[in-house]
Amino acid sequence: MTKNKNNQAIWNKRIGKKSSILFQKIGSSINVDKRLFKEDIFGSLVHVEMLSKQKIISLKTKNKIIKGLKKIEKEIIKKKFIFNEKYEDIHMNIEKRLFELIGEDAGFIHTARSRNDQVITDFKLWIKSSNKKLNNKLNKLIKTILKVSDNNIQIIMPGFTHLKNAQAVSLAHYLLAYVEMFQRDKKRLLNNLESLNENPLGAVALSGTSFNIDRFFTTKKLGFINPTNNSIDTVADRDFVLDFLYSISVCSLHISRIAEELIIWNSDGFDLIVLSDKVLTGSSIMPQKKNPDPLEYLRGKAGGTFGNLFAMLTILKGLPLSYFKDLQDDKEIVFKSFDTLDNCISILNEVMRNFKPNKSKMLKLANEGFVTATDLADYLVINHGKSFRKAYQMTASIVNFAEKNKIKLNQLSLNELKKFEPNLKSNVLNVFNLKNSVNSKKSFGGTSFNNIKKMIIKYKKNYK
Ligand code: ARG
Repeated sequence: MTKNKNNQAIWNKRIGKKSSILFQKIGSSINVDKRLFKEDIFGSLVHVEMLSKQKIISLKTKNKIIKGLKKIEKEIIKKKFIFNEKYEDIHMNIEKRLFELIGEDAGFIHTARSRNDQVITDFKLWIKSSNKKLNNKLNKLIKTILKVSDNNIQIIMPGFTHLKNAQAVSLAHYLLAYVEMFQRDKKRLLNNLESLNENPLGAVALSGTSFNIDRFFTTKKLGFINPTNNSIDTVADRDFVLDFLYSISVCSLHISRIAEELIIWNSDGFDLIVLSDKVLTGSSIMPQKKNPDPLEYLRGKAGGTFGNLFAMLTILKGLPLSYFKDLQDDKEIVFKSFDTLDNCISILNEVMRNFKPNKSKMLKLANEGFVTATDLADYLVINHGKSFRKAYQMTASIVNFAEKNKIKLNQLSLNELKKFEPNLKSNVLNVFNLKNSVNSKKSFGGTSFNNIKKMIIKYKKNYK
């Protein structure tokens, strides 16, 4: 890079004194927003294309600018570009370099444009593509969970409420609950595209412009669907940032839930799964330890993404229209949240590929806690014409009896059961079989093996 002769801020005519080093430091965002360089250059290319089409700048100037911008892009990619804190942000750094490369013609690039609309254009483009990246990553994760589920349809475990054994379920059904959550996360990201598809370019500083610009042209060229409707709102709006941060927060919340689930299952008390050594760590003092650190990492990271959402909400709260420096922090916040979630999805995918259910332990635990009690109550309703409340009470008495005698429901004899309902037939004993219990839940969305098989086929069509 040649020595920068024009070593001054763009506004040096108006602001006579050099800004203090301290202010330069806090005012500069280049170390964060340089990540937007591709979008910034793309936005500028389209902008000058439009300016020339509208005869606001000459063809010759446009071509010079385009050549300069392409050179700058190459320099940045090849890491030959020197970012300078003095020029605040990515927009000014690029404009300054353009002056060095093509001279005074660079001064035409900012016609009918302000950094206020420029930055949101860049940022929307970036969030749009990052949104798609997350969506693709979620597809991979869902595929992995579907594979694990498919391999574990017949594995019976207790489903919990209040972390107490509730009813027997298939492990696959449990895991597919997370597929539903991640599908909703995908939908949430998709919904964000509506506002991300509104083109901010042309709102300029806040009031639009007297130049005869063509916002519909830039909208199309930049891949947006419509131009934004109100120039003041455009430069003040960061709702699309909130939407993205919220979507990320909810997805990381889901990840923290499954992480916690697996931590519990992996604990010595539960011992329901075995994690491969690939995703475990040791202790510095206790030689026997194998800790599920990556899962704890996943559980903890949701804290950061919620914090980022709250930081942005707080920045916007009470902020009058339109642009203020407060808004500059949006990039750092979004980049942090994106990187965190991007990383967390990869880690969870790796964990899911590296765990095995402890099948016998799952079945054993499902045999604790009288989990077939509801099945007995249902049986009494279906076969003995009892109201559900009556059947519930009768079953509760049978559970009390079994508990008192320290036996499980499937260890009760027909004679013992008949003391509670003399008309019972021997097939009542079938309701205490866990497999029968799981398979009886045939209602749509229920845990029967057949339901799950069909569901997996249905999901798989979307994740080839
Ligand atoms: N780097 C700035 C930001 O991200 C660009 C917008 C600057 N606009 C201004 N009026 N100072 O917010």
